[in-house]
Amino acid sequence: MYDRARRGERAVLVQTTRAGDPDAQARLQEFAELAASAGASVVGQVFARVDQPNARFLLGTGKVEELRELKLASAADLILVNHSLSPVQERNLEKYCECRVIGRTGLILDIFALRARSHEGKLQVELAQLKHMATRAVRGWSGLDSQRGGSIGLRGPGETKLELDRRLLRGRIQQLQERLDKVSQQREQTRRGRLRNAVPLVSLVGYTNAGKSTLFNRLSGAEVYAADQLFATLDPTLRRIEGLPSGPFVLADTVGFIRDLPHDLVAAFQSTLAETRDADLLLHVVDASEAESERAQRMDDVAAVLAQIGADDIPQILVYNKVDRVDGAQPRRDDVAGGTQPRVWLSAAQGLGLELLRAAIAEKLGQDRLRLQLPLSAGQGRLRARLYEAGVVLQESSDENGGWQLALDAPRARLQALYGLPDGDGSYLRAAIEPAADAEPVQDA
Ligand code: GTP
Repeated sequence: MYDRARRGERAVLVQTTRAGDPDAQARLQEFAELAASAGASVVGQVFARVDQPNARFLLGTGKVEELRELKLASAADLILVNHSLSPVQERNLEKYCECRVIGRTGLILDIFALRARSHEGKLQVELAQLKHMATRAVRGWSGLDSQRGGSIGLRGPGETKLELDRRLLRGRIQQLQERLDKVSQQREQTRRGRLRNAVPLVSLVGYTNAGKSTLFNRLSGAEVYAADQLFATLDPTLRRIEGLPSGPFVLADTVGFIRDLPHDLVAAFQSTLAETRDADLLLHVVDASEAESERAQRMDDVAAVLAQIGADDIPQILVYNKVDRVDGAQPRRDDVAGGTQPRVWLSAAQGLGLELLRAAIAEKLGQDRLRLQLPLSAGQGRLRARLYEAGVVLQESSDENGGWQLALDAPRARLQALYGLPDGDGSYLRAAIEPAADAEPVQDA
């Protein structure tokens, strides 16, 4: 269906297993999806039991011979191993099997390279690729590659740098790091800008291909690239959404999560994932058409990444997407965890059940509303203006000293978002709001 897949390289997949390992088949299936996402056609697959990783090959020597024969018999161009490979293991396997060998990290990096869209995303991928490469010797497969035009694992912004020696590589890594720091600072400023407007942030999270971008488009009316490939989204995209009774919010689309995301990559994508960490509410999108066990496993995978980036205590709405693919299923809402965890079944692609989700979002953001009286002195005019800008002022009266008494009414999250204000305004607000649980509430008129 896709250009790249049509002229895809022929790949043999290796799935490692352990004793009593019931998930091996599912992990192989997921790995095959990743391989297809990188444009490879899978022409063979083997399971390899690895109880004691072999230092030279990772796999036992008998398995390596079997792999070499399978590679020859299936005329494969490359071998993809669903495991991390040390540079030595990778080189030895390549030598023995006479073709390129790529581990899980290399494959994921390759997919990220294909998907990066923003400047920052591209820099991050290049940096992660170069770091991955710096630990490896420069490869000698250019002859083989050019025969078929294949390039999985060698693609992306980093590819022309392959011939560089390590010293140049290190220089380039440093240069990239500096540029990225600058871009991250700019992003931080944008984030502050958003904080100034005190709009809550709602972030879409979910396993790759669950339908986040499709839902993002539905909710925001924006056109973001949605494709039936893993990782169609690499960079977060932000849209301001109006029209809910709880007030406006910013919706962020984020990179798809994935099982065993290599640690390096998590680090490299920290700033991309910052949108998730800063969120007031997460929409955890799940593919309802997946088999129950795989679905549960993917939800655990997402939970693990959320924990890794410190976003596991943010409130969530569970969104079971693709109900159109589930026999007899209708859009509906059936909250779990004693009603505290909203769960909405819908179809983003067909636009079914969106109202249920909007209502759940409004409810979550509207919960925990704060109503309080805030005295401001004559010198706090700028803070007063900001509070008006944020749309949280219910009433105002002026006092005899030229100051004001404001009645505020807003979701707690929205007022808390204003804590980031400069010039002490933020800390003034925090002090005024945090004891607010015991403070006298504003009387309803
Ligand atoms: P990544 O960017 O890889 O993380 O993926 P994503 O979660 O953003 O998924 P995306 O929105 O790109 O959707 C993945 C595929 O699922 C696309 O082919 C969509 O058309 C399809 N899809 C999304 N929502 C639905 C749905 O409600 N029903 C059906 N049948 N397909 C859907």
